[in-house]
Amino acid sequence: MNPSLLFIASGKGGVGKTWLSTGLALLWSRQKLRTLLVDGDLGAANIDVQMGFRARWTLADVLAKRCTLQQAVSAGVDSHLHVIAGKSGMNAVDLMSAERLMFVREALHRLSCQYAYSLLDLGAGLGTGVRSWMKICHKGVIVITPDPSSLTDGYAAIKTIRSLCPHMQSVGVVVNMAESDHEGQQTYSLFAKSCQKLLNFSPTLLGVVLWDDRIRSCMRKQTHVFDMFPTGHSADQLRHVSRGIEVL
Ligand SMILES: Nc1ncnc2c1ncn2[C@@H]1O[C@H](COP(=O)(O)OP(=O)(O)OP(=O)(O)O)[C@@H](O)[C@H]1O
Ligand SMILES: [Mg+2]
Repeated sequence: MNPSLLFIASGKGGVGKTWLSTGLALLWSRQKLRTLLVDGDLGAANIDVQMGFRARWTLADVLAKRCTLQQAVSAGVDSHLHVIAGKSGMNAVDLMSAERLMFVREALHRLSCQYAYSLLDLGAGLGTGVRSWMKICHKGVIVITPDPSSLTDGYAAIKTIRSLCPHMQSVGVVVNMAESDHEGQQTYSLFAKSCQKLLNFSPTLLGVVLWDDRIRSCMRKQTHVFDMFPTGHSADQLRHVSRGIEVL
């Protein structure tokens, strides 16, 4: 497998990006694939809290020159998983000089070559930070839900990716929080049709994840449904999405 740096984005907030990122990172690390998970959401970072560890340094410290990128790498909850935490409450990227941002982006790109997978969990919206990280990634995944506002925000995200990342031949879509597989497929069809019509580009469906109360309760307990219910539908769908990412 070639080393791969990919982002998970959405446009709309609260659609399940962090759930998907942490789940994929756990899945790959359990498959003994060296994985780097980066919290690229510097406005409302929460991966370290979600995974139940405390990071000494964060990506915001790297951007502010308080430490090197390598120093910000924490051993995650798994032997094959490394994590770079973010920092809540500040949009560090917006405060950085363009040179510093470019330096950190290049360092992250180089660091990612040491891993089979590097995953950037991006924040909501399409601000400077999100757009900046997108540019260095080889692959991109957009999370949408059947909510109409998620579709319009998802469309805006695809449009941004098409202009910023012309090297990306395909972009994956995960429909999350669907009431049924049918609703998820319909949501994807609607989304793909408007992308095709307006952008002449159709993203690839990676999977449909149903609404699952257990995801919420696991997140509240700082665990992951993938660990607590490894044979359930949501964990199955994570595996399905992972296979789709491999061939994206
Ligand atoms: N399929 C699902 N069914 C039910 N709840 C879900 C599902 N996926 C995610 N959630 C819950 O939705 C909430 C938001 O998820 P998450 O934090 O992953 O979203 P996000 O896109 O990363 O949000 P933000 O934009 O704020 O970073 C969490 O409480 C999570 O447990
Ligand atoms: Mg998040």
